[in-house]
Amino acid sequence: MENVVELINRVQDVFSTVGGNESLDLPQIITVGAQSSGKSSVLENIVQRDFLPRGSGIVTRRPLVLQLITLRSETDGPDYAEFLHVPQKKFYDFNDVRREIEDDTARIAGHNKGIARKPIHLKIYSKKVLNLTLVDLPGLTKLPIGDQPADIEKQIRQLILDYISKPNSIILAITPANSDLANSDSLKLARMMDPAGKRTIGVVTKLDLMDAGTNALDVLTGRAFPLKLGFVGLVNRSQQDILTNKPMIEALKAEEQFFQRHPAYQSIVNRSGTAYLTKQLNIILVNHIREKLPDLRSKLSSMIGQTQHELAQYGDPAFTGKVHSGSLILKLLTMFSTEFVASIDGTSSQIST
Ligand code: GDP
Ligand code: NA
Ligand code: MG
Repeated sequence: MENVVELINRVQDVFSTVGGNESLDLPQIITVGAQSSGKSSVLENIVQRDFLPRGSGIVTRRPLVLQLITLRSETDGPDYAEFLHVPQKKFYDFNDVRREIEDDTARIAGHNKGIARKPIHLKIYSKKVLNLTLVDLPGLTKLPIGDQPADIEKQIRQLILDYISKPNSIILAITPANSDLANSDSLKLARMMDPAGKRTIGVVTKLDLMDAGTNALDVLTGRAFPLKLGFVGLVNRSQQDILTNKPMIEALKAEEQFFQRHPAYQSIVNRSGTAYLTKQLNIILVNHIREKLPDLRSKLSSMIGQTQHELAQYGDPAFTGKVHSGSLILKLLTMFSTEFVASIDGTSSQIST
């Protein structure tokens, strides 16, 4: 079944190269939250790599569509990354990945805090990741700064709504523990688009920054705010940890110890932290895809029909380019459908981690 995710990633690539990303409504995991709530940090923890620009203020200024692809064996070589806008180049140094994100953000969204809707497409190949597609979005903000337009709040809200309104997107609604959960904008937006809470996971960051003597157990156990898929508490790296280059592996260990040692969280140790969130995400994603399969298959076959029809109309060799990309899609879709059916028919729902 895990192949299904790989196949979907592949088809998604074809669409974003040839036909824009809108053509196929595939499940993606979207991070939503206020500026500096820890969205980029959560994604880095899931990927177990330092590669995203993070920090206080507006850092993420374009959507980042991030495909994680599991490298299976030693022979696959070291982890690397690829950008859709830099074809043929493998990035082995994740500092270069961060720089490329920053550079391409500036190329499209300018140098002075502007935001842009055009996404950056990044793939990370790693032995340490599960197959997931994640989207990092600019954070919710109220007041315009730098080159931001007067209606920046509205624009960012709209950008977020566009992504999370897709019925098969999964919303990671992030709220820092040191803020008022009842006023969480991310939970409000998620509730607007997913009123039944069927595809929203609550994520509470910065548990380490709560006032001494307080805890978030009420929220994390769903007593404060009911959410079908529940809440997961996290401790990401602090700004100090980032400045001192605290290694990811140490940060994850520290997070684990935080939950093991905190008296309030003893009953939920096994349901807390980054590792647990990652597993949950993959299970939810696979279940989600499985639910959508009938729909996806009928969409694919009607698209194949339409492409065939279009191809039949181009007798003229002057249309070679278009015919070529048309037949490429057709070929890939046909392959996809075949493999897809095979993987649905002959498999268990097991996913490896
Ligand atoms: P984003 O704007 O939502 O993408 O947030 P970032 O991931 O860039 O994080 C904003 C700041 O909060 C950074 O300085 C992070 O180090 C810090 N931060 C994020 N999560 C946590 C956490 O769980 N604990 C602590 N102490 N700091 C955090
Ligand atoms: Na930030
Ligand atoms: Mg960010």
